[in-house]
Amino acid sequence: MSQRIQIFDTTLRDGEQVPGCQLTTEEKVVIAKELELLGVDVIEAGFPISSPGDFRSVEEICKAVTEPTVCGLTRAVEKDIEVAAEALKHAKRPRIHTGIGSSDVHILHKFNSTRDQILERAVKAVKYAKKFVEDVEFFAEDSGRADLEFLARLTEGVIKAGATVVNLPDTTGYLLPEQMYDRISYLFANVSNIHQATISMHCHNDLGLATANTLAGIRAGARQVEVTINGIGERAGNTSLEEIAMTLKVHKDLGFETGLDSTRLYPLSKLVSGMMRMPVQANKAIVGRNAFAHSSGIHQDGHLKNSSNYEIINPEDVGVPSSEIILTARSGRAALRHRLQLLGFKSEKLDIDSLYERFLLMADERKMIHDQDLMELVG
Ligand code: KIV
Ligand code: ZN
Repeated sequence: MSQRIQIFDTTLRDGEQVPGCQLTTEEKVVIAKELELLGVDVIEAGFPISSPGDFRSVEEICKAVTEPTVCGLTRAVEKDIEVAAEALKHAKRPRIHTGIGSSDVHILHKFNSTRDQILERAVKAVKYAKKFVEDVEFFAEDSGRADLEFLARLTEGVIKAGATVVNLPDTTGYLLPEQMYDRISYLFANVSNIHQATISMHCHNDLGLATANTLAGIRAGARQVEVTINGIGERAGNTSLEEIAMTLKVHKDLGFETGLDSTRLYPLSKLVSGMMRMPVQANKAIVGRNAFAHSSGIHQDGHLKNSSNYEIINPEDVGVPSSEIILTARSGRAALRHRLQLLGFKSEKLDIDSLYERFLLMADERKMIHDQDLMELVG
């Protein structure tokens, strides 16, 4: 039987930290409801003490969703924890996510502290958060560069203090997948109470390894993954939700499953990209504009004979209406009409003749015509 991986979505917290991607409370609520329909297990709704706006967003998201756990971020600071608890008070399933730096770099250069003092603060923060909610997640920031023996002591300490989930972030996106696998395996072998908590992966993509590192963590025993739609997040971003979801689905042999309705991935990717004004790169796995587009003659020929020649995912499984055969100035009215219908336009309401004339001009200029171009064409 497959083992269940918990999907912890942090689009509205780590994702929303990206400059230029800020959302209003109303927009966040819309996305949170879509995340609920997608089937995520946890929504990290924000960092309540950071601003009155973030506080209100967390509060409103708690009222708007019922199924997922709603989580608020805090530092290992009592006031942060009190404010988060207040923001989460309407949640059906509230979680406080508290934590502190765990690498020597952070301990020395951020906290001017020692390992023992950090351990003490971590345990104190978890115990304090437990006064407000049962479900407390602890994050060991920059754990990817932390001393492993200390990380084991820290993990054991916070679980003893009541942490239900321990998040081991690779905050700087430093690790290689083999290293991640070895480190998580080490913790499973050396932390006596590790099975009393869920171990969570939170990887950043500075070297383009976030998805690979998250998978390595799962294979070593982690059962929660912290991800974002389109992989948005600090700097080069976080692990992309859609990549993890589809890798586990395509590789059933790995023996893991999620509770996600994958057909919602593409529409949600578009919604998030539009609201955050953050375009998705064309060749982005799963949700990029070219992810299911066939352009070379050999590929088009093979694809039309049998789609499995060049596709490992059925586009409909991720909510893409169909694979794309690229429209060019050589395409006719029928192809244009067909594509517009797939995009949801009612052909009887469109003046195809005049659109086609403009389509040809656009195709001569742009060579390939994508869905976005068609949206622009129709206005
Ligand atoms: O990357 C990180 O370490 C974080 C923590 C705050 C969880 O985002
Ligand atoms: Zn992060």
